Amino acid sequence: MIEVRHLSKSFVKYEKEKGLWGMIKGFVNAKKVITKAVDDLSFSIAKGEVIGYIGANGAGKSTTIKMLTGILTPSSGEVTVDGVIPYKDRITNARNIGVVFGQRTQLWWDLPLIESFTILKDIYQVSDADYTERMTLFNEILHINEFLKSPVRTLSLGQRMRADIAASLLHNPKILYLDEPTIGLDVNAKKNMREAIKKMNASFQTTVILTTHDLDDIEELCQRILIIDAGKLIYDGALSDIKTKYGSDCKVSFVLKEPWKDFVDLAKMMDVDPLSITVTLNDDKLEIGFDKRNLSVATVTATIMKHFEVSDLSIQETDIEAIVARIYREGHA
Ligand SMILES: Nc1ncnc2c1ncn2[C@@H]1O[C@H](COP(=O)(O)OP(=O)(O)OP(=O)(O)O)[C@@H](O)[C@H]1O
Ligand SMILES: [Mg+2]
Repeated sequence: MIEVRHLSKSFVKYEKEKGLWGMIKGFVNAKKVITKAVDDLSFSIAKGEVIGYIGANGAGKSTTIKMLTGILTPSSGEVTVDGVIPYKDRITNARNIGVVFGQRTQLWWDLPLIESFTILKDIYQVSDADYTERMTLFNEILHINEFLKSPVRTLSLGQRMRADIAASLLHNPKILYLDEPTIGLDVNAKKNMREAIKKMNASFQTTVILTTHDLDDIEELCQRILIIDAGKLIYDGALSDIKTKYGSDCKVSFVLKEPWKDFVDLAKMMDVDPLSITVTLNDDKLEIGFDKRNLSVATVTATIMKHFEVSDLSIQETDIEAIVARIYREGHA
């Protein structure tokens, strides 16, 4: 459905020096700065997949989406969406896609919500029968009927997001781009939104590309993730694979009754390779990091408690949040 080959996008900026003299000099020779927002990306996405597209701020996510939607022209490389080159044929591409930006709405602010739907129905030439059928389904999944008559500006954020998703799906696009669809929503609204996205994907076989900083969205919705860092793809694969790779990291933190003074060979006591554990000591706080495949929480805890008086302890297993933070930090998976 989506083919991306060696796709790159650079932005050129001219930086002027500060002050009046800088301004005058700037007319003559402003410094040319090139940002490679997207750098040699390649991936393919099949019909019906739900993909999590993640990366730190400024990684190049929105720039990629803008090239997929035809808003931006690539500097080099190729992109096709359902056989169409988006920036060359924006109209055909627009019929194939739906886009929702969490931060912005595509609805007509001052009109009752229903008017936005009738306008979109005309724009996309949706038949009466399709319109009725889809509106019924949207209501079943997104519960929009309760505020269809209200002006969009009076809707709560959660209601507005539901309405935006419905609006983006009215023409039954093959691909749905969701840019932070749960931003600012409360816990319940997030849950409902994720349910709705799942049901939409199941009912329409819509291919979904989701960018988000909320990793619970990813856990709930995506079997596959793409991680981008400084414009480059650093991971493309199943979420479960990185979980297996990093998910066995574990940390046990102890608060000792008395500061630890003498050298104690913990690795020897636990009968493991010293390089396989990390020991951090800060006054009376002791942290042991290890891989659960080599060592059990029980062994670590028992060993420490045998040698020290412990007043408190806590266990931290790696969650997806920590794994992704580590991948961003290390720049590879
Ligand atoms: N129109 C533009 N002109 C110049 N530089 C740009 C432009 N658009 C994006 N950039 C730069 O390209 C890089 C990638 O930006 P992009 O918006 O794609 O990041 P992002 O991954 O969407 O980040 P965020 O998570 O903050 O939304 C950034 O360094 C940004 O400053
Ligand atoms: Mg962005």
